[in-house]
Amino acid sequence: MNFFTIDPEKCNRDELCVKACPTKVIQMSSSEELPVPIPEFEEYCLACGHCVAVCPTEAFSLSWLSPGKCLDVHKEFSISQEQAEQFLRSRRSIRNFKDKPVERQKLEKLLEIACFAPSAKNSQPWHWTVIEDQTEVRRLASMVIDWMRSVITQHPEQADQRGFVRVVSTWDAGEERICRGAPHVIVVHGDKDYGFGAEDGALALSYFELFAPTLGLGSCWGGYFYSAVNAYPPLFEALGLPANHRAYGAVMVGYAKFKYQRIPLRNEPQVSWK
Ligand SMILES: Cc1cc2nc3c(=O)[nH]c(=O)nc-3n(C[C@H](O)[C@H](O)[C@H](O)COP(=O)(O)O)c2cc1C
Repeated sequence: MNFFTIDPEKCNRDELCVKACPTKVIQMSSSEELPVPIPEFEEYCLACGHCVAVCPTEAFSLSWLSPGKCLDVHKEFSISQEQAEQFLRSRRSIRNFKDKPVERQKLEKLLEIACFAPSAKNSQPWHWTVIEDQTEVRRLASMVIDWMRSVITQHPEQADQRGFVRVVSTWDAGEERICRGAPHVIVVHGDKDYGFGAEDGALALSYFELFAPTLGLGSCWGGYFYSAVNAYPPLFEALGLPANHRAYGAVMVGYAKFKYQRIPLRNEPQVSWK
């Protein structure tokens, strides 16, 4: 079976598919010949779709991806440098939420966009668990507190370093600093033995967080929550994650209560030019 096909009428022999392929599994023996797969094509192909995406004449089709199946690049939607700067700089971690659930459709859209993040070898290792019910979010947050209490007892130094005593005492005083009263929490997880889970998870959640404001939503990393999922079996089980998984990250999400009026500065980049 051919893993890709070339329309000979459309192919202009520009070799772009050969040059764009990250694993070099496409070759052309001469500038007159059509591109052909090298024998190990299937084994090494990342399924990234660069070959289909780069072809200006729509001549290249993978067995599973034709040009017609791809999304269009709308030039009119390209953003300027100024727009991109403001878009990236104005993202904020949101920790105050309206008492209003997020529509399922919006959560689905966020996850769809998150999956366009890069991942090592295009593994796309993400599985998502969405805690939609706010009462359940609160119950799971209380389990994070249970975990913190056990760390305070068993590893006081570690608890001290991670600020657990303060978080637990604020919880006891009625302040929820684990999920910040968010209506939903989203956990990204996958194979526990996959080496780039933390990186791929963080990247997908970054896409999620950057896209959220376009839907009127705000989000914040759930660092305590995510650490507890991996460290505290009762929470892991309460989430119903598969036994061979670990959490790669978590975010809380909801409608932001406040609007931020300006953008605080960040540290200058610490760079060594060699
Ligand atoms: C890995 C990670 C874990 C985080 N965990 C928490 C958390 O548990 N609770 C929280 O309120 N914010 C958490 N944050 C948000 C950071 O505090 C926040 O990104 C930082 O203060 C910068 O603010 P900004 O995101 O609004 O620019 C976390 C961020 C990251 C990247």
